[in-house]
Amino acid sequence: MTPVIERDLGALRARVKAWKQAGDVVGVVPTMGALHAGHLSLAAAARAVCDRVIVTIFVNPKQFNNPEDLANYPRTEVEDAAKLAPIGVDVVYVPDGATVYPDGFSTTVTVEGVTECMDGVHRPGHFEGVATVVAKLFTQTAADKAFFGEKDFQQLLVVKRMAADLDIPIEVVGCPTIREANGLAMSSRNLRLSKGGFETAALLHTELQGIAAGLRDGEPFAVLRDRAIEALNAAGYGEVEYIDLRGVNNLSLLWAAERPARLFAAVWFEDVRLIDNIAV
Ligand code: PAJ
Repeated sequence: MTPVIERDLGALRARVKAWKQAGDVVGVVPTMGALHAGHLSLAAAARAVCDRVIVTIFVNPKQFNNPEDLANYPRTEVEDAAKLAPIGVDVVYVPDGATVYPDGFSTTVTVEGVTECMDGVHRPGHFEGVATVVAKLFTQTAADKAFFGEKDFQQLLVVKRMAADLDIPIEVVGCPTIREANGLAMSSRNLRLSKGGFETAALLHTELQGIAAGLRDGEPFAVLRDRAIEALNAAGYGEVEYIDLRGVNNLSLLWAAERPARLFAAVWFEDVRLIDNIAV
C-alpha cells in the first residue's frame, strides 16, 4: 500500500502517539529523497524490526555548503512514495521549510570530536546542519529506532554522539552500504554522472579494495594510497580530498590497520563529489 504522505507536524505527532499507546515500536529513516536501493535497504531494515516505519524526506538547506549542490539536488517525491509502497512503510513525513526552521529559528547543534576531520573539514558547517536537522527529526517523530547508512560513516558517528549527548531516547542503527553492480556506492548524486562516467566512478571502490588488500599483505599505507591516487588521476579524476585510514570508533588517523579500522575517501569526478568507505 502506498504510504500516507504527512506534511503536518501536529498530525504526525498524533499518529505516533496513538501507535505508542498501542505499544508499537516506531522506526524512522531520515532521507533527503531521490530514493535509491540504498535508502530502500534502510526502510527494509526498519520494517524488519519495527511495528511502524516513518521515512522522512527533507532537503535540508543547512547542510549544503555549496548552493549549486542544493539547487541541483534531485526532488522526486511522488516516485519516492511509490518506491516505499512495497516495503510497507507507514508514513512518509515531508515537512516544509517552515516546519523544520520556523521564523526566528536560532539553534545549532555542534558535535565535536568526530567532526574535526574529513567531511567536517572539507564541508564547513555540513555536520552542524546534519546534527541540527536530525535532532529535530528525532524529536518530531519521537521514534524508538533510527536507521542510517554506513555509506556516510562519519555522519553515522555524528548522529550517534548527538543522540547520546542530548539524551534523545532513540537507538541509532547503522546499515551496510548498498552498491551498484560495478561496486560504485549508490548515491543520489550519481544521477549527475555521464554514462561512461558511471563506470569510471566505480574505480574509487576498486582502489579502496586494492588498498585494503595491500594492507592485509603488510604493504605500507602511504605507498598504497599514493598508488591509488595515481590510478584515479590517470582515469581523469579531479581533486582527491582525502584517502584516510581511520579507527572506527573515534576516527583517529592510522598508518596501519592495527585496530578495527576503515578506509575513507572523498574524490571529485565529473564535478560530482564521490565518497566511499570500507572496513579493513
Ligand atoms: P541522504 O543522502 O538522502 O541519505 C539518507 C540515508 O541513506 C543516510 O543514512 C545515508 O547514509 C543512507 N544511504 C545513502 N546512500 C546509501 C547506500 N548506498 N547504502 C546504504 N545507505 C545509504 O544522509 C542524508 O540524506 C542526510 O544527511 C540526512 C541524514 C537525511 C539529514 O538531512
